[in-house]
Amino acid sequence: MKNVGVVILAAGEGKRMKSDKSKVLAEILFKPMINWVVDSCLNFGLNDDDICVVTPEENRQIVEATENRFFYVTQKQRLGTAHAVAQAKSFIKNISHENVLIMLGDAPFVCDDVLKKFFAYHVDSGNSLTILSAAVEEPTGYGRVIRDVDNSENILKIVEESDCDGFEKLIKEVNSGVMCFKKDDLLSVLDEIKNDNLKCEYYITTAVEILLSEEKKVGAFDCGDETVVLGANTRFQLLQMNELARQKEIQRLMDDGVEFVSLDGVIVAPGVKVGANSVIYPNVILKKDTEIGNRCVITSNSHIESSKIGNDVLIKSSYIDNSFIGNGVKIGPFCNIRPNCNIKDGVKIGDFVEVKNSKIGEKTSVAHLTYIGDSDVGKQVNFGCGCVTVNYNGRKKYKTVIGDRCFIGCNTNLIAPVNIGNDVYTAAGSTITEDVPKNSMCIARARQVVKHDWKIKDE
Ligand code: UD1
Ligand code: CA
Repeated sequence: MKNVGVVILAAGEGKRMKSDKSKVLAEILFKPMINWVVDSCLNFGLNDDDICVVTPEENRQIVEATENRFFYVTQKQRLGTAHAVAQAKSFIKNISHENVLIMLGDAPFVCDDVLKKFFAYHVDSGNSLTILSAAVEEPTGYGRVIRDVDNSENILKIVEESDCDGFEKLIKEVNSGVMCFKKDDLLSVLDEIKNDNLKCEYYITTAVEILLSEEKKVGAFDCGDETVVLGANTRFQLLQMNELARQKEIQRLMDDGVEFVSLDGVIVAPGVKVGANSVIYPNVILKKDTEIGNRCVITSNSHIESSKIGNDVLIKSSYIDNSFIGNGVKIGPFCNIRPNCNIKDGVKIGDFVEVKNSKIGEKTSVAHLTYIGDSDVGKQVNFGCGCVTVNYNGRKKYKTVIGDRCFIGCNTNLIAPVNIGNDVYTAAGSTITEDVPKNSMCIARARQVVKHDWKIKDE
């Protein structure tokens, strides 16, 4: 067990983003920033009980996004980062650990590897306070780390952007916002921090000077990677960070042997897996723990989320959500595979087909313009063009069951609940309202009537 608890600051408004939701819910690769931060803490080895999140009073969305797993305290007035930490005082007092980590909900790239090194440095150096820093190309907006000119090992203070003089503004080493305190020193310093700065806020960064003045040991751990410390205060910074994260995820897949035709519009969320020799075209979005096998081809404008796709699958310009797709399946173009589908090996689903909450058996073909909902379809079934499982009567949804090797003629309506046995043929244009036994042929349409010379009679 790690000898540290964490307080994550997430009560900021996001004024600079002009957003009507909390800033820490702004997403990077479709994942809220706060979730990047809690995942880093969990991967670092902290337990749910070790994590406290400081939220605004209206915190329902933050609690939901983090699955109500942690300890939450609210900060009624946003009086600054030290004031935010002070709201977690009782949590800090109660944890059994000797150290407390402070993390910011809007600095999502501090990963568990960095936390491990940073925390080891903090413990080894015996510091009362260690800050995580890095030199960045564009330091505007960050707190600058002021080091002793005579001995650059020593830090003197952190100066926030608005309090920087001309010289301090040129300093490129910035505070990431991640700090690690000895618990007792944090508790005592919280009572001493004043708001005597330009913005009249209580800054947690003031703790550096206070602890130094009390002869305590304070240090900075420079992680040497400017991407780690980035924070998103504005929409533009958020976009830049999305772009950085995007390149990183794509690089990860390329290292796994995935081929990209062009990176334009390709977005891969963290946690997505793709097998070797699969090819991803431009404008493909892969979200939420999707797994794709080997040798698949995913063409432009496909959007796949929370789905598991087998090997040798071809997906042409289609939407797939929360479904399982077997090996050798062909889907698209322009299909909508809605949640809870199980599409077995060798199935062919052609243009403008929608499938929802259904199982489709091996080698079945649904080639064009068809809706299959709440159905259990057997193997080697052939659907003609324009078939519909009529699953909803305006009040309730019903199930359609179709056996193996059936031939469902063009424009067949199957009014659920209905069971079609194995090896059944339905005539084109049939509206099937009753069960059909195996091996039969079913015609359910009016006979054709021809009124001869109708036009002449009409005149
Ligand atoms: C902060 C640091 C700065 C650092 C930068 C890194 C302070 C005073 N400054 O500046 O040194 O370089 O982060 O990104 O700490 N928050 C609250 N309650 C508040 C105020 C803020 O919970 O009253 C939360 C926000 O939700 C945010 C985090 O604290 O997640 C940081 O606040 P923000 O206002 O963005 O600080 P910065 O100006 O970016
Ligand atoms: Ca910030």
